[in-house]
Amino acid sequence: MSTEQQNVPAFDLIGKRYDESFVERDVQLAEGAWLIRQLPPGARVLDLGCGSGLPTAKQLLDAGVEVVGVDESQVMLQLAEQQAPGGRYLHQDLRDVDELGEFDAVVAFFALLMLPRADIPPLLERIRARLRGPKLLLISMVHGDFDLFPIVFLGAPTGVSAYPPATLRQVVTDAGYEVLDLQEIEAEAEPGRIEVQIYLRARALD
Ligand SMILES: C[S@@+](CC[C@H](N)C(=O)[O-])C[C@H]1O[C@@H](n2cnc3c(N)ncnc32)[C@H](O)[C@@H]1O
Repeated sequence: MSTEQQNVPAFDLIGKRYDESFVERDVQLAEGAWLIRQLPPGARVLDLGCGSGLPTAKQLLDAGVEVVGVDESQVMLQLAEQQAPGGRYLHQDLRDVDELGEFDAVVAFFALLMLPRADIPPLLERIRARLRGPKLLLISMVHGDFDLFPIVFLGAPTGVSAYPPATLRQVVTDAGYEVLDLQEIEAEAEPGRIEVQIYLRARALD
């Protein structure tokens, strides 16, 4: 790996290959459909680590929801502009949520797992302060017990954090949410590698 590659966000190197390889999105789409049913007219949703805009930003936009997507990868944001037009896409760290206004829901599908575990509880608390109305949080993670474990994903070096399901539930609860649902599923996130994924729905408490 060259020195330039080391300073580039992993998803700038992955780009379109992410959507092409991670195609098992039925559960994520079902979570998006559930969210849409909970939202009031004129709802605003923050998509943290929105990636290429597929499937979630597009699904929400198609349902008439206002979407703000943030991502550290310019390459993924360009794909989002093309594939999920109509969203407001911001090139920034997903931990910087304080200046983004208020949202009826925040979604972070396979995004918090790219942070060190120490950053996740304080971020969940800052997200809670941004929620209004139904105050929903939907996240997905991978099953495991590691803190920014170095991996190579689709050829790009990166790191992944994970919790066992009971610990994830506790982390979210301790940050001031009621966990509404947690499901574990198996999916192929890259060719030939099946992983256990966790989808969690929560509502922020007042
Ligand atoms: C595994 S992808 C998930 C993309 C999309 N949410 C989905 O459901 O497929 C993780 C995304 O989070 C972005 N990301 C990772 N760390 C980030 C950070 N600290 N700030 C902003 N975006 C980040 C990556 O660039 C990538 O687009």
